[in-house]
Amino acid sequence: MERKTTEITAEARAEQERFCARIAEYWRARCRTPLAFVDTYGCQQNEADSERIRGLLRAAGYAMSDTEEGADCIVINTCAVREHAEDRVYGNVGALVHTKRRHPEQKIFLCGCMMGQPAVAQRIKTSYRHVDGVFNPHQLWRFPELLHTVLTKNGRVFATEDSAGTICEELPVVRGNSLKAWVSIMYGCNNFCSYCIVPYVRGRERSRRPEKIAEEVRALVAAGYKDITLLGQNVNSYGKDLDCGVDFSDLLAELAEIPGDYWLRFMTSHPKDAGKKLFDTMAAHPRIAKQLHLPFQSGNDRVLKAMNRHYDSAQYLALVDYAKSVMPDLVLTSDVIVGFPGETEEEFEDTIKLIERVRYDALFTFIFSPRGGTPAAKMDDSTPKEEKNRRFDRLCEVQNRISQEIHAAYVGKTMRVLIDGRDGDVLTARTEGGRLVRLPGDDSLIGSFAEAKITGCTTWSLTGEMAE
Ligand code: SAM
Ligand code: SF4
Ligand code: F3S
Repeated sequence: MERKTTEITAEARAEQERFCARIAEYWRARCRTPLAFVDTYGCQQNEADSERIRGLLRAAGYAMSDTEEGADCIVINTCAVREHAEDRVYGNVGALVHTKRRHPEQKIFLCGCMMGQPAVAQRIKTSYRHVDGVFNPHQLWRFPELLHTVLTKNGRVFATEDSAGTICEELPVVRGNSLKAWVSIMYGCNNFCSYCIVPYVRGRERSRRPEKIAEEVRALVAAGYKDITLLGQNVNSYGKDLDCGVDFSDLLAELAEIPGDYWLRFMTSHPKDAGKKLFDTMAAHPRIAKQLHLPFQSGNDRVLKAMNRHYDSAQYLALVDYAKSVMPDLVLTSDVIVGFPGETEEEFEDTIKLIERVRYDALFTFIFSPRGGTPAAKMDDSTPKEEKNRRFDRLCEVQNRISQEIHAAYVGKTMRVLIDGRDGDVLTARTEGGRLVRLPGDDSLIGSFAEAKITGCTTWSLTGEMAE
């Protein structure tokens, strides 16, 4: 396959490093440490991008703040996946007018997936004049240059040039957690599911070189990270654009050989590309968490076709059956959309049937949200909102019952958990499958693996006690 990706060169990165140095100099001359606030909407890919943005800000001399009030630089990393996500961003960006009035020197940047839509960037330009800069996901690596321009030239910058996609290695990073880390293994999406905006705003699929990913994972393990999630919109396409003959299962197997005590997981898998090789690899490697996020979106074949998903419910179920046969303790989660244009009551019932048949540990449930420019936004959608809400509530009811039943079956078992924090008077921990466990214990245990005996449960979490 022809590789249209732009790999950002070492010289181009060095130039951005010089911009960081100049910004740091700008603040030194003013005898103070500037503060930055980065706010993130959307999925883990955005979380991972924000960690890079914080890295660039730190390299430019900024300290991180956890509030927009008084911050010298605010970056809002936006999500475009549903209308609700966009509305929240517009509301919060609008409110920043007041924050900036109290702190006129404040520089406000918007980035992320919403800024990948030219019409949104244009709206920001004309109607949100307190915003100083906009950059789309392809231009993230140029943030130091953009910030420098805004600081020194007092103008606005709009870096929204379209691109098939960029890959920029070696960006500095400030990670949000010292135990759990995100590692993007690829960017973009080629699937064009008919409802989804992501391929339009994130560009074509492009894979990082396996040696770069291995280097990052090795460094994370050496730094004590215990839970590492490989990220991509469809990790099963990994490597298709590279020339080294490494597919996702090969990559996973190689990474799982890195010595250390940690769990390796990944998301998201597209059912059309997931298969036996992947599940066999997961089953064979103890460090690969037995957890799979395998979005099905709908249980009805007509709807799946209209969604452009390239599998039907029988193929999906065959995949799940195989995965469970080689990993009996597999924790399975999924995404589902209700109220896709034209979805009938019977078609919705097929979704319920599939959920009952698979029995997911947890589901991420969404009501269809039309996204401008996608084929589904033009489809006839005459189902009333109240009806869609009713289907949504029913779906949640069914899933909550199943989650509760699955959780109840954990009671009495002893399981390995990673203790990751404190919530009030209990410690919080995660099982290999990502289930939340609350248990009494000392703060000194945070960051370590432990054996926990499960003593109780709710729909959302488990309670337990230390087994030893
Ligand atoms: N790449 C992942 C995949 O294919 O499974 C999903 C990425 S998307 C950011 C996360 C989820 O948002 C999707 O799986 C889908 O369920 C949901 N989603 C995407 N577009 C949507 C829309 N227009 N309306 C409602 N839900 C949507
Ligand atoms: Fe969107 Fe489909 Fe790509 Fe997932 S695979 S990001 S749902 S287009
Ligand atoms: Fe993620 Fe939202 Fe973009 S879900 S890929 S941040 S549109």
